[in-house]
Amino acid sequence: MSIEYDDLRGYIKILEKANCLKKIENADWNVEIGAICEVNSEKKGTALLFDKIKDYPEGYRLLTNFIFQPKKVQRLAFGIPDNVSDNEVILEWRDKLANYKPLPPVEVEAGPIKENVLTGSDIDMFKFPAPFWHIHDGGRYIGTGDLNINRDPDTGYVNMGTYRVMIHEKDMLSYFMSPSAHGDIIREKYWQKGKDCPVVLCFGQDPMLFAASTMQIPWGVSEFDFAGYIKGRPFEVIIDDVTGLPIPAAAEIAISGFAPPPDKESRLEGPFGEWTGYYASEPFKRPLIHVKKLYHRNNPIMTGAPLNKFEPAWYEIPIHYAPNIWERLLAMGMPGVQGVWSYGRGGRTIAVISVKQSYVGHAQAVANIAATVPRGAAMAGKYTIVVDDDIDPSNWDEVAWAISSRVDPETQIEILRGHLNTPLDPAVPPEKRARQDYSMARVIINACRPYHWRKEFAEVITYPPEVREKVKQKFSYLWD
Ligand SMILES: Cc1cc2nc3c(=O)[nH]c(=O)nc-3n(C[C@H](O)[C@H](O)[C@H](O)COP(=O)(O)O)c2cc1C
Repeated sequence: MSIEYDDLRGYIKILEKANCLKKIENADWNVEIGAICEVNSEKKGTALLFDKIKDYPEGYRLLTNFIFQPKKVQRLAFGIPDNVSDNEVILEWRDKLANYKPLPPVEVEAGPIKENVLTGSDIDMFKFPAPFWHIHDGGRYIGTGDLNINRDPDTGYVNMGTYRVMIHEKDMLSYFMSPSAHGDIIREKYWQKGKDCPVVLCFGQDPMLFAASTMQIPWGVSEFDFAGYIKGRPFEVIIDDVTGLPIPAAAEIAISGFAPPPDKESRLEGPFGEWTGYYASEPFKRPLIHVKKLYHRNNPIMTGAPLNKFEPAWYEIPIHYAPNIWERLLAMGMPGVQGVWSYGRGGRTIAVISVKQSYVGHAQAVANIAATVPRGAAMAGKYTIVVDDDIDPSNWDEVAWAISSRVDPETQIEILRGHLNTPLDPAVPPEKRARQDYSMARVIINACRPYHWRKEFAEVITYPPEVREKVKQKFSYLWD
């Protein structure tokens, strides 16, 4: 795996060369761009670069559909060669996580992000073509493919996360974070002391920073260091003099400012068409960010990660979730795991683990650990399915076959109650929502042959590999 690009512009060149970029002119920021993105996601289209957007000068561009899917685009973003299979990618990422070594950013004085630096009345967030993405959104969302950077006041660790950001006024934004997001834990620490939380946001940046920002990296591990480690070289940052926070030196658009405690100041935010495929939240009073400094490159390129029913919003090869589970199972000393994959909304609602069973209770233990691996937010881990080692976890048809044929629902399905979920999950009932209780159960499906009578289990109909190979070759014209 080798990642060739140095910044977003370098990545765009790679997309173009691989025929994975389409350029669109004269689209309207008001719903039309969102609609184009929805159709593009449905068709699993490649990346889109919008220019000459209605009401905006040429050069003020927006890049969408640039990393999650299709697999070809994801592979370009992560430098994954074609000859590495999807399952091997998960294996590689498992090892990467297990061998993680931080590669911190280096501070530099200058960088393209400083090409334009604006303060006071010159700040205008409407200067950029932030789309009104979906018909019933509460406003224009400049932050979907963004970074939100803040610093833990106790340890000094710098966190980065992707959270939606709505524009209210020229210099006023609001943002939404799910409970349990590290960014939320950090900002609360400032607010509990009655202080404003210093914030940096980026609205266009190196795809690897965005990737790190959207992944569930453990508390205390800076996404800057993680992104540097994955890329194989450190990121360059400038230090913002308003907040003391780092800004990627090659970012396209960034702001620095302060988020006051919400009991002092807040505004209605939302609804917003969310990654669940629904308008997930009612208008709600959310924390604000007062923008004190605006940085942008000449002819800036904003990144957008539009959400809709067809855009699962995380990676089609689920490097953001499956390797975590596998690595945790290994760390717990769990033997016999053959592969891990994940499906469903966000590519993380349904986890599948294939295991070579060695003892009674083995599959159940794997399932119990896997079901509680993630931090729990955003519907991760709602369903955990364990399958035997003859099932390819990345092949949903095989997984569905195992669930259909190896499970007695009375004894092989379990419900674990009271886990954290997200307010964005439309299945949270109104009465729980009213008391801000977003807990939800998780389900374990043990789709392995029951260990104690596995040898009596009906034999699978299949032909020996050499017979299959022979007919494949002899009658190849049937499947060419
Ligand atoms: C396109 C996209 C949009 C997201 N929007 C939000 C959001 O609005 N609020 C939120 O809490 N998480 C959102 N997430 C998920 C977080 O970015 C993710 O959970 C991340 O790990 C949070 O980082 P943190 O735990 O370090 O704070 C989004 C993810 C993606 C891919």
